[in-house]
Amino acid sequence: MLLYRRFHFGAFMPKHYDDTYARSLENPTQFWASAAESIHWDRRWDLVCDDTNPPFYRWFSGAQLNTCYNALDLHVERGRGKQLALVYDSAVTNDSKSFTYEQLRDEVAQLAGALLNEGVTKGDRVIIYMPMVPEAAMAMLACARIGAVHSVVFGGFAPKELSTRIDDAKPKLILSASCGIEVNRVIPYKPLLDEAIELANHKPDRCLILQRPQEEAPLDPNRDQDWHTALSKASPADCVSLDATDPLYILYTSGTTGIPKGVVRDNGGHAVALKWSMENVYGVGAGEVYWAASDIGWVVGHSYIVYGPLLRGATTILYEGKPVGTPDAGAFWRVCEEHGVNMLFTAPTAFRAIKKEDPNGSLISKYDLSRFRTLFLAGERCDPDTLIWAREQLHVPVIDHWWQTETGWPVAANSVGLGTHPVKPGSATKPVPGYDIRVLGEDNREVKAGQIGTLVLKLPLPPGCLPTLWNNDKGYQASYLSQHPGFYLTGDAGYKDDDDYVFIMSRVDDIINVAGHRLSTGGMEEVLASHPDVAESTVVGVEDPIKGEIPVGFVVTKAGVDRPAADIVTELIEMVREAIGPVAAFKTATLVARLPKTRSGKILRGTIKKIADGREYTMPATIDDPAILDEMTEALHSLGYPRKDTQ
Ligand code: COA
Ligand code: AMP
Repeated sequence: MLLYRRFHFGAFMPKHYDDTYARSLENPTQFWASAAESIHWDRRWDLVCDDTNPPFYRWFSGAQLNTCYNALDLHVERGRGKQLALVYDSAVTNDSKSFTYEQLRDEVAQLAGALLNEGVTKGDRVIIYMPMVPEAAMAMLACARIGAVHSVVFGGFAPKELSTRIDDAKPKLILSASCGIEVNRVIPYKPLLDEAIELANHKPDRCLILQRPQEEAPLDPNRDQDWHTALSKASPADCVSLDATDPLYILYTSGTTGIPKGVVRDNGGHAVALKWSMENVYGVGAGEVYWAASDIGWVVGHSYIVYGPLLRGATTILYEGKPVGTPDAGAFWRVCEEHGVNMLFTAPTAFRAIKKEDPNGSLISKYDLSRFRTLFLAGERCDPDTLIWAREQLHVPVIDHWWQTETGWPVAANSVGLGTHPVKPGSATKPVPGYDIRVLGEDNREVKAGQIGTLVLKLPLPPGCLPTLWNNDKGYQASYLSQHPGFYLTGDAGYKDDDDYVFIMSRVDDIINVAGHRLSTGGMEEVLASHPDVAESTVVGVEDPIKGEIPVGFVVTKAGVDRPAADIVTELIEMVREAIGPVAAFKTATLVARLPKTRSGKILRGTIKKIADGREYTMPATIDDPAILDEMTEALHSLGYPRKDTQ
C-alpha cells in the first residue's frame, strides 16, 4: 500500500464534519427534513423517506415543488433578480453573454411557452442534443418548468448512440442546434440528428433547431421549427407543481453492454441534495461565482453547471471551449479572471493537458486569480502528481472528490463547507454526509482498513441519487442492488484507510474513463464483432498521460481472412467512431493470433492491461496457455506499450 504524505490547508476543523456526518447516518429522516427547509415547496411531504417498497426508496413523497421555480423565480422574488445567474463564455466564437436571474427566468419562461405550443406537457420526454450554448441550459430549465422530462445527449456521441436514446426515452420533441464548434472545426449537428431519427424506431413529433451563424442547417418543414420563430410565437409559461418523486430528467450513461442505462433523477430529493451540497460540500455562498468546466451532456454539467449553482443563487459559468488550444493553456485562467470565478470544478484530464502545455505555469501567472479559492477535481482517478502540480501552481486547495452519474452529487469529498480535512493525494477524502460507504471482500464481508475491496453504499441512498432506471426497475435491481443485498454497488474498487479516507482505485467492470468520459469497452467490442472479418476481440483501457485511459482493441480475424491488417484496423477504427462517436477516442487496434483466456474462456483483460501499463502481474493460475502472454507483450510492444511517460 502506498503511503501518502499529508497536506494541510486552511482552517482544519473536522468536528463540524464529524457531527454532521454522524447525524446524517443516525437519523437520515431528521437530517434531510432539516435540509429540505431551504427549498420552496408548494406542498410539504407526507414522508421524508418512503421505505414502504424496498429496495426502492422515494424521498419527500407527497410533497410538491417546481425545480425551475427554486432555481430562478424564487431568487427573483427574494431580491436577486439583478444578480448574474449565468455567464456564457465561448472561447471558440469569442462570444460572451450574461443573464441576470430575472433575464434567465424570462428567457426560460418564453422557451417553456414554446414547448407548450409544440404540445409538450408534464411527463413528456424532450431530448436535448446541443453544444455548450446558453440555450441548452435554458432548454433544461424550460422542461423543468412545465414538468417535461429532459434527456440531454452529449454532442460527441454518434447518431447511432443518439438513436438508442431516442428509442428508449421516446421523446415528443428534440431540441438541437445547427452546429457545434470543436476548437476550430465546425461540426454540423443537424445531419447527425437527421441520421439518428432515421435510425430510430421512435419518431419525435417535432424538432426545434437553434440556427448558429457559423453554419445554418436546412430545416424539414414537416418536422423542424426554427428556435427563434418558435419563441416569437410563444407566451411565457408559469411553473407547474410537480410531485417530488416525479422525474426531472433521464441521463444515459455507459453500462457494461452497448445499451446505455437511463439514470432517472427525481425533482424533490435532487433539489434538496444539490442545494445542500453547494453549501456544505463546495462551500459556495449565494452570489459567488462557480464554474464547472464540463459539458451539460455529462452529470457534472447537469448538477453543477445548471441546477446546483442556480438553486444556491450563485452565478454559473457556461464555457464553450477546451482547457488547451482555445487558444492556449491559459484559457481557464482567462475565464477565471474575467468572470471573477471563486470555485472551479473540472476533471484531472484537463489539468494534465494544461500541465503538458504549460509545465511551469507561466500562463497562470499572467492572470489575476485573487478571487479564486478552491479547485475541485472529479470524474476519474486523480493521480497525486496532477493534484500536487495544480496546488503548487494555483496556491489554493485542490479537492479530489468521487461520484458518478447515478448518485448525481459527491459520495466522498473533502467537504470544505463543513471544515477541511488534511489532503492525502490519491484519496477522495471522507464519505459525504448521507453516504454510508463500505468496502466488501469477495465473501461479502467488510474488509479491514487498507484492504482493497468492492465499494458499496448502504441503502437507502441519500436524496438526489437515482431512484431507478428509466422504465427499467428490474435492470436497476440487477445492475446495482442484487450483488450485495442491502447495498448499492458503485462498480468501483478501492479501500478506506485507518482515518476513514476513501481511495478509489479502479472499476470492477469493463467501464473505462477516457478524458473524464465514461465509456463501455463492452460496447466497443460489440462494434468490432460486427465487422465481417472479425472472429473475436477485446478492448482494454490502457494508461494515457493526458486522457487517463484510452481504449486499445485486440482483434482475432476469422480463418482464411488474408486482407492487409492495416486495412482491417482502419475500418475498425472508423466503425467505432461511426457507431459510438469521436468521444470514444478509439484510435488504436491490432490484429493478434489469439486472445489470452482462462480455461473457462474468460478473456484476461486485467492481465493485458497490466502488461500494457508496464505493471507487474502474476501468471493467472487458470490461464489456458501461458505462452499467449508473450504474444500479447509482443503485440503491445509493436503498439508502443508500455509507454515510458505513464510509468
Ligand atoms: N461535439 C462533437 N464532437 C466532440 C464533442 C462535441 N461536443 N466533444 C468532443 N468531441 C470530439 C473531439 O473533437 C475529439 O474528436 P477527434 O477525435 O476528431 O479529435 C473527440 O471527440 C474526443 O474529444 P475530447 O475527449 O474532448 O478529447 P480532445 O483530445 O479533443 O481534448 C481534453 C482532450 C483533455 C482537452 C478534453 O477531453 C477536456 O477538455 N476534458 C475536460 C474534462 C471534461 O470535460 N470532462 C467531463 C466530465 S467532468
Ligand atoms: P460518471 O458516471 O461518468 O461520472 O463516471 C463515474 C465513474 O468515474 C466512477 O464510478 C469512477 O469509476 C470514476 N470516478 C469519478 N470520480 C472519481 C474520483 N474522484 N476518483 C476516482 N474515480 C472517479
